[in-house]
Amino acid sequence: MAIQITQPSLCKFLAYIQRTRPDYAGCRILECGAGGEVPPLAMFHEQGFEIYGIDIDDDQIERAQKYAREHGLDLHMIKADMRETPFEDDFFDFVYEFQAMCHLTKPGIRQTIAEMHRIMKTAGLCFLTVMTRNNWPLDGKEIARGEFQSHYEGKDHIHSYFDDDETDGLFDRFTILRKERRSILYANEWAEMSEPEWMAWYCDDWTGFTREEWLGWYPHRKEKRRLEFIEYIVKKG
Ligand SMILES: C[S@@+](CC[C@H](N)C(=O)[O-])C[C@H]1O[C@@H](n2cnc3c(N)ncnc32)[C@H](O)[C@@H]1O
Repeated sequence: MAIQITQPSLCKFLAYIQRTRPDYAGCRILECGAGGEVPPLAMFHEQGFEIYGIDIDDDQIERAQKYAREHGLDLHMIKADMRETPFEDDFFDFVYEFQAMCHLTKPGIRQTIAEMHRIMKTAGLCFLTVMTRNNWPLDGKEIARGEFQSHYEGKDHIHSYFDDDETDGLFDRFTILRKERRSILYANEWAEMSEPEWMAWYCDDWTGFTREEWLGWYPHRKEKRRLEFIEYIVKKG
């Protein structure tokens, strides 16, 4: 069965590698936060990379493994924390991360980027995403500037959002090769949401606004809801 993966970020990174590193076949790539129903690693495998994946969540790993079984793939995926991985220094040619670091605190994100630097070869390329403060809503309680804590599905969650003047500094040990801001409105999905569904999403511990304000935004939900992140391609050295 052909692999059908259309995540734009993944395709962009792949195209960038194909254009700038045409001898990439057989190179090692790690995906951090690699679990989920349609694992990007499958696409990297199809393109000839030696693939590795880590994820911290057993259910996410199982979803990816189910896809792998159905497609006859070995994803080389293990349970590990991207802040401290089991890989040796200078092991990978490429690292890919898509909306996974945002689940860490800001110190955790800095630790992850330092860890990526450690495990990558000199001149290796890394694709990373950083959430901005222009996201809406910033859900949860702000426990430190840009770090929001929320509780759902029986667990505590963190989401980190950066001010624009903070993001480049995360990569001071790398060379920034490409930087692209992506801002996505979910107009269609949100238009379909009923008022009870909208209200069910509200949590009492949100600090940004009251339940009444949230209800008042229901008619404007298409314009309000926004996912914004910056994609970086950075080089070690
Ligand atoms: C939004 S999903 C992205 C899934 C997949 N990479 C994709 O693009 O479809 C984020 C993933 O990061 C994982 N994750 C969160 N914190 C992690 C950590 N500290 N170490 C490794 N994985 C983590 C989550 O379990 C989740 O599977």
